[in-house]
Amino acid sequence: MPKLLVVGAVNVDLVVETDRLPGPGETVVGPTVTRHGGGKGANAAVAAARAGAEVRYCGAVGSDDMGAAALAELQDEGVDVTEVGVLDGVATGMALIVVDPFGENQIAVGAGANAALDATAVGAAVERAASWAGCVLVSTEIPADAVAAAVTAAAARGIRCVVNPAPVLPSTIDLMSSAPVLTPNESELRDLYGLIADGRDAPEMAAADRAVAVASRTGASVLVTLGAEGVLIADPAGDTVTLPAGHVDQVVDTTGAGDTFNGVFAAALADGSSVVDAAKRGGAAASLSVAAVGARTGMPTGADIDHAVRGA
Ligand code: RIB
Repeated sequence: MPKLLVVGAVNVDLVVETDRLPGPGETVVGPTVTRHGGGKGANAAVAAARAGAEVRYCGAVGSDDMGAAALAELQDEGVDVTEVGVLDGVATGMALIVVDPFGENQIAVGAGANAALDATAVGAAVERAASWAGCVLVSTEIPADAVAAAVTAAAARGIRCVVNPAPVLPSTIDLMSSAPVLTPNESELRDLYGLIADGRDAPEMAAADRAVAVASRTGASVLVTLGAEGVLIADPAGDTVTLPAGHVDQVVDTTGAGDTFNGVFAAALADGSSVVDAAKRGGAAASLSVAAVGARTGMPTGADIDHAVRGA
């Protein structure tokens, strides 16, 4: 069984489906609001657990009802929450999400306890994971020092590390020497390229060239999630390949598709898969995940992913 430590944010998501996304200063009204588990770290942890991995999640919630519910949801999915801090005096993170009929979304996050995640605790969690985890997945909706603690501890212990740079923190440049596998989307790739190019813009540059430039800097693969266009993989030697996205009958909600990719991809790496094979599993899982409202609702099982990968 693949063994994975996930470090990142956990939120409660409040989701409103509307006819269209609001513009600046505009109010849009949908018929209902639904509550879902969220946060890029916790979502990826659930995706990996559903795919069949043994997953421990490291993050922080407030000592409030929302935090207790968030942890209960993770435990129901089989995720080990022993590395989660329950913090007094701070609210559990919350995301306000609007979804349009094409599955596109707008998200605003109140970080709450995620912003108080302690870097020392994160470093210690990665140290403890060294004896069992095949991979550490880190997403960046948490303090920069907590991200750095996870990445540097994983590198020091020789554990494979995947960083989902969502959002791209300026300090990511300092982590590149630890050779994390980076998994940006296209706009995050632009931000990563801006970091290594000292902010010099290259608007005409193709995504593949930017990804190769970043991979040359880290010395590890860069996987660019392109939504319906699939996943672009660049390696430090300059080779690139694009894997097509899986077939989707109807896109209902793309929230959490990237988290699904990351969780399933990192779990497959932890299991010894090659980067390309792991990306095929992550991509298939992400395509399946967009068929239902809520970041985690449509996340597939390992059997669903096997079936989709075989049929691709
Ligand atoms: O990637 C989707 C997630 O981003 C949501 O679940 C929301 O909580 C935000 O963190």
